[in-house]
Amino acid sequence: MSKSLQLYFAFSLAMLLLALFFGAVAAFAFLYPEFYNKYLPFYQLRPMHVSSALFWIISGATAGILFYKKAAFDTTNSQPRVEKTFIYLWMGTVVVVFIFYAFKKFGGREYWEFPPFLGLAILAAWLFLMYSYYTSWTKRKKKPPLYVWMWSTGILFFLITFIEQNLYQLTWFRQSFLREITVQWKSNGAMVGAWNQMIYGTSLYIMVKMSGDEQIARGRKTYFFYFLGLTNLMFNWGHHIYNVPGASWIRHVSYAISMTEWLILISIIQGFKAKLTEQRKYRHLLSYRFLIASEYWILLNLLLALFMSIPAVNRYTHGTHITVAHAMGATIGINTMILLASIGYIIKIDRLNVARKKYITIGFITSQASLLVFWLSLITAGILKGYRDVALHITPFQEMMRPVISVLHVFAIAGVVLFAGMALIVFNYIKALAQMKPTHEKRFAKNEGLIGLNPILNNSSKTGNVKPIVKPT
Ligand code: HEM
Repeated sequence: MSKSLQLYFAFSLAMLLLALFFGAVAAFAFLYPEFYNKYLPFYQLRPMHVSSALFWIISGATAGILFYKKAAFDTTNSQPRVEKTFIYLWMGTVVVVFIFYAFKKFGGREYWEFPPFLGLAILAAWLFLMYSYYTSWTKRKKKPPLYVWMWSTGILFFLITFIEQNLYQLTWFRQSFLREITVQWKSNGAMVGAWNQMIYGTSLYIMVKMSGDEQIARGRKTYFFYFLGLTNLMFNWGHHIYNVPGASWIRHVSYAISMTEWLILISIIQGFKAKLTEQRKYRHLLSYRFLIASEYWILLNLLLALFMSIPAVNRYTHGTHITVAHAMGATIGINTMILLASIGYIIKIDRLNVARKKYITIGFITSQASLLVFWLSLITAGILKGYRDVALHITPFQEMMRPVISVLHVFAIAGVVLFAGMALIVFNYIKALAQMKPTHEKRFAKNEGLIGLNPILNNSSKTGNVKPIVKPT
């Protein structure tokens, strides 16, 4: 792996640590404002936490794609300079974002609350990524497997949704508050669809490699799911604009659509589990566990989402901590677990020494258990708040929040344990990453059946008769 890409993986893991750290501090800042307001107020910690969480997800997904593309396409590394430019421009901009946050210089919009001119650097970096990815993509196999479609779609739609999110720079969008907020929330919702395409594509890729069966990423059913995912990307944002006055059918249709996205992933994981032999499972046991954990979190989030979508329930829960449980349940339970499976697969966590594997296993169990408590306490806090506000009409805020605050203490403590569990995983990942040899990427690509490095496959690639070959790793 090139030094730059290695650094980029470490950077994305550092973002995960920062997200956990700022999240844990933010939870206490919410509970003890009189103390934290003097040093690090909640209004400063929240954007720091949410931005680092988003940068973790997007950096982790793109680092994986940059790594896998060399094995997935017939190329070792086309455009290494462009790739490097993307990596350093992206990382540099993110560092500057946090410097601005540290000096309380805000200015953007929800989730991207840094001064808007930094968005230009993010945009430029993304264009470099696109150039690097799509030039490799031109060397793809004739009928690329589904994960290639998913990566390509996710990368393109991130650009579209990012531009859409910045449309508020144009006066016309700011002239009406409703217009601006609708476009904001819509683009945020669609952007989640874009990074889900990148992340779900990545999970599909490693499932293919672990099982040795490329059919998981091919076939009619799989492509039907791709189009369902694309429909999600384009239309599921409707449930992000619930608070904006609009036709109710839009909400109902989009909510129904957004539920299907998770069904897609569950179905793909089920297909993968059915094809995975015991022997292969044990060869990739730790990565496999992260992947399967994401499946359980999909199920739990699906249940919560269905519950939230019942109008009588939504009346109580809207805008409470249940919405936060929904957001963090998905970004931690699903996205983060898949990304940890992916990075773990790249750095070969299953071949690390016994002590390191033991620490990762302890970290895994701790984070799963604490995440469950964390998530359930947010839901409980949401139900309590909704009930006391809407059903009991308790108006003095302090009085309404009294039992909610007790539950939020449980949430904050579970968050600290989650931070500790995940830090154990991240620390061992970074150590393993640092010990990787520069030849790792070439060997990896060769094992994955990279055509350019394999003379036998090289010939067949020229005739265009390449059969999907997946070698055991
Ligand atoms: C991988 C780790 C994490 C990710 C990806 C993540 C992601 C997110 C996201 C996307 C939001 C915005 C939710 C919304 O707008 O509704 C959020 C909010 C928040 N998170 Fe996290 N989070 C993580 C870990 C944590 C931890 C460990 C804590 C500690 C208790 C925490 C505490 C919070 C708090 C207090 C908020 C603000 C909630 C509010 O505004 O009411 N997060 N997080």
